[in-house]
Amino acid sequence: MPAASDADFHGDGEIMTSPVAREAILLVGGQGTRLRPLTETTPKPMLRVAGTPLTVHQIARARQFGVTRIILATSYRAEVFATGIGDGTALGVTVEYAHEVTALGTGGAIRNAAARLRAAPADPILVFNGDVLSGVDIGAVVAAWSRQAADVALYLTRVADPRAYGLVPTDDSGVVRGFVEKPTTPAEVVTDQINAGMYVFRRGIIDEIPPDEVVSVERQTFPALLAAGRRVIGVVDDGYWLDLGTPAAFIRGSADLVRGRVPSPVLLGPPGSSLVLPGAVVDRRARVDGGSVIESGARVGAQAHISGSVIASGATIGAGCIIEDSAVGDDVVIGAGACVRASVLAAGARIAEGTRLTEARVWPGQSQPGEPGSSPPV
Ligand code: GTP
Repeated sequence: MPAASDADFHGDGEIMTSPVAREAILLVGGQGTRLRPLTETTPKPMLRVAGTPLTVHQIARARQFGVTRIILATSYRAEVFATGIGDGTALGVTVEYAHEVTALGTGGAIRNAAARLRAAPADPILVFNGDVLSGVDIGAVVAAWSRQAADVALYLTRVADPRAYGLVPTDDSGVVRGFVEKPTTPAEVVTDQINAGMYVFRRGIIDEIPPDEVVSVERQTFPALLAAGRRVIGVVDDGYWLDLGTPAAFIRGSADLVRGRVPSPVLLGPPGSSLVLPGAVVDRRARVDGGSVIESGARVGAQAHISGSVIASGATIGAGCIIEDSAVGDDVVIGAGACVRASVLAAGARIAEGTRLTEARVWPGQSQPGEPGSSPPV
């Protein structure tokens, strides 16, 4: 595939060309353990935020920046992607699949997917973690990669407490000085810039990753590139960024999409305090706010108050319930007067009338209060 560029005229008559990455790899093969039990049945990137799978939001956004071919690097529950995304026609892109029978880690997955790339060795390839919701200016990161003749450019964001992330200090010109994965001592917290989970690789660099091996791009590939004197740069974008790795983040991400705090080309309605999808039935005496989404086929009873929550397809919320900052899975039934806060109820769960749950996780098909001896798997 020839390198593509968008040409535009500048005031002095000079033609500036900025490269466009036409191909992208989406890393979607992780098990999403922190998001259990939601990920028992659905891989994390296929969980619906604001009614649409995160992967679809990501593909649509990549397409806006010129990406036309996407390789999904799958492993855990790959069949869910094949069913939900197919060949990409509905999204206006070509989607292909690179499956790992045994998960190869982030670097191994990128290398495995490279067999399906068509780009030339010098061309830019975008790589996305499949669990990040962001408003990053993808074009600006590709442009910086090109302008600075980088081997790899990393999208960085700044966070108040970077300890849970991969720190990426840079010099004044953006050249990466090191990688510190999840620092444990205060001395290691050398910057507030973290790896935000999107990269631009020169295609030839991907081909250098050893094939058929478990490799971590964060812990192995990037530090090895630095040690070998390769040019790795960081591009800080201070726009919206959220890693949807935990239940609280997943629920917040959906609410932020609904409220229009993060751009998505596939939002199913105008931004506002709630998104009630066609086919949902909400009693007119119920209140739905805080960025809640009520999916098709869900029912919300009278005097219920749903705030900052995801109510999935076919769920039934009884009269007078309070549901706050929670994820309620497909076909869950919550009896009248129940109060559910900061909780995750997986598909088919049953919550009895008047039950109070805070920070609970209820497994698929399980009941609360449970039968004696029906505790969830650990
Ligand atoms: P946790 O188990 O909760 O940490 O989640 P995770 O399995 O998704 O891991 P992590 O959040 O570190 O992964 C970041 C991104 O890379 C996610 O989009 C994962 O789907 C993806 N990913 C992680 N490991 C692999 C892998 O071995 N193969 C592939 N194809 N993707 C992976």
